[in-house]
Formats: sequence, structure tokens, C-alpha cells
Amino acid sequence: MRFTGKVVVITGASSGIGAALSKEFAAQGATVVLAARRLDRLEELKQEIEKTGAKALAVECDVTSEESVNAAFEKVRTELGQIDVVVANAGFGVTGNIDRLKVSDIERQFDTNVYGALRTIYAALPDLKKSKGRLVLIGSVSGFIGTPGSAAYAMSKFAVRALGDVLWAELDHAGVTVTTIHPGFIESEIRLVDNSGTYRTDFKDPVPTWLQMTAPVAARQIVRAVYNRRRQAVITFHGKVFVLMSRFTPCLVAHLLRFNANQGLKTGGIGARKE
Ligand SMILES: NC(=O)c1ccc[n+]([C@@H]2O[C@H](COP(=O)([O-])OP(=O)(O)OC[C@H]3O[C@@H](n4cnc5c(N)ncnc54)[C@H](OP(=O)(O)O)[C@@H]3O)[C@@H](O)[C@H]2O)c1
Repeated sequence: MRFTGKVVVITGASSGIGAALSKEFAAQGATVVLAARRLDRLEELKQEIEKTGAKALAVECDVTSEESVNAAFEKVRTELGQIDVVVANAGFGVTGNIDRLKVSDIERQFDTNVYGALRTIYAALPDLKKSKGRLVLIGSVSGFIGTPGSAAYAMSKFAVRALGDVLWAELDHAGVTVTTIHPGFIESEIRLVDNSGTYRTDFKDPVPTWLQMTAPVAARQIVRAVYNRRRQAVITFHGKVFVLMSRFTPCLVAHLLRFNANQGLKTGGIGARKE
């Protein structure tokens, strides 16, 4: 029960990593605030969590709107009075080779993954400073390696990684710790969401399940890293291998990615727009 008495706000709590994190923080004693756009899903999750005896609050929140984010945090303040941990997790992936994307696709990607995280941080900071709390950013292994077809997503996650690195140092004086999590492939709905950010029941996840870490296992590792106030954590074995390779064998990685891009163009398997 590492988070007894703490209030934890999680954006993007309606599925995948965010939903699993909500259950894990609740199992560790926290009161969890479930924030996302799909309130029906949040209400279901809230009921599931409350059946275990934990406390949860569902709040509608669209991280692309400053007004919506501020209103969500105001509701948390009014109903719960404190905020100890904030996880900026809401995100999705725009895919496609650069010549198949428009600037507007990349703007949409940044609006959620980067500016959405920033809106969350600005809304949460006064409370986190008061509680000497923990800020958690969900980055990605794509914040270290940009694979062909992922320019928009990788750019957004490189930005999140940079933000996490800077804030870790900048917020130290205020007693707020910053943990940036870089997951590899985790079981979730992210690969079933199209370039406009809509969940699609007709999509198939291209990543084999054997390569995906289950969301509850990922959530346990993330919550442990947050509890220990780690600066960063790479989640999944393959993710750790990629990050190490990007650091120690960057030339090899670059050539492998170029080979992969050229093969993809021949087979049409990589670089297609997701829509
Ligand atoms: N799964 C992976 O393999 C993987 C790997 C590396 C990093 N990540 C990162 O992990 C985070 C969570 O993704 P996931 O894999 O769990 O995907 P997911 O199952 O699709 O969940 C994404 C969550 O983000 C929310 N969201 C999307 N746009 C939003 C918006 N504008 N405002 C508020 N909430 C929004 C969605 O809720 P609503 O649609 O209800 O708003 C949903 O709850 C993302 O930042 C992603 O980039 C995932």
C-alpha cells in the first residue's frame, strides 16, 4: 500500500496503460482520478475499482482543450482537496511516411501528446508544489528511436522525453519529482486508433501479442518507478535493448532502420497512413 492517503490523477484512464495504472494505484491505496474523453468507460472503471474498496472519481477531460483540463483539475480540488501524483498519459499515434502526412496530422499529434501533457502539467503544478508530489510523463521507446512511418509519433515522444529531462531538474527546488516512463510495446488500444484519434473496431493490431507486455505488468513496473521517484524507466525487455542500441550502436541502428524503410516501401507494409 505505497500510496495510501494520496490522490493520483491519470489522464487517458479509459483504456490501456491508463486504465491499468488506475487499478494499480488504487490497489496501492490511492484515491484515483480517472480522466479522459469517454466518460461511459470511466464510470465503468470507477465501479470496478470501487468494488475493491478503493475510492475513484471519474472526470471528463480532453487534453487538447485548456478549458477542459482546467475544469477537470478544479473538480478534483473541490471534491478531493489535494493532488499528490499526476500521470500525463493521454496519447495516440499518427502513422505514415512523411510524404503521406500533412502538417495538420503532425499538429494533431502534438496537440495531444505534447501540448496535452503541457496543459496537464500547467493545471497540476500548483497542487504538486503544495504536496511536494510526483509528476509522471508517459513517453515511449519512440522517444529514443524513430522507426520508419513513425515520424509524427516519434517527434512527439522525443519532445516528451526532452520535457521530462528538463522538468526533472527544474522542479527539484520545489520538491516535485518527475518520472518519465518509456514503454515498448504494451497491450492497449493504441494501435487500433486511427490518425484522427478515433478508436476503430475494424483495425487489427499489427504487433504480435507475444511481443506485447500485458498492461497490468507494465502498470506494476510504472507504479514502482513512480514510488521510488526514479528519473526515468524504460519498460519491456525489447524496449531496453532498443534504447541501449540507440545509445551504444547508433550507426547500426540507423542502417537497420534504413533497410527496414526500403523493404517497407517494396512490400508496402511500412509507411502507410492509418485511416
Ligand atoms: N501501448 C504501447 O505500446 C505504448 C508504447 C509506448 C508509449 N505508449 C504511450 O502510453 C500512453 C497510453 O496509451 P495506450 O497505449 O494505453 O493507448 P490507448 O489504450 O489507446 O489509451 C489512450 C488513452 O488516451 C486517452 N486520450 C486520447 N486522446 C485524448 C484526449 N484528447 N484527451 C484525453 N484523453 C485522451 C484515451 O481516452 P479517450 O479516448 O476516452 O479520451 C485513452 O484512455 C500514450 O501516451 C502512448 O503514447 C504506449
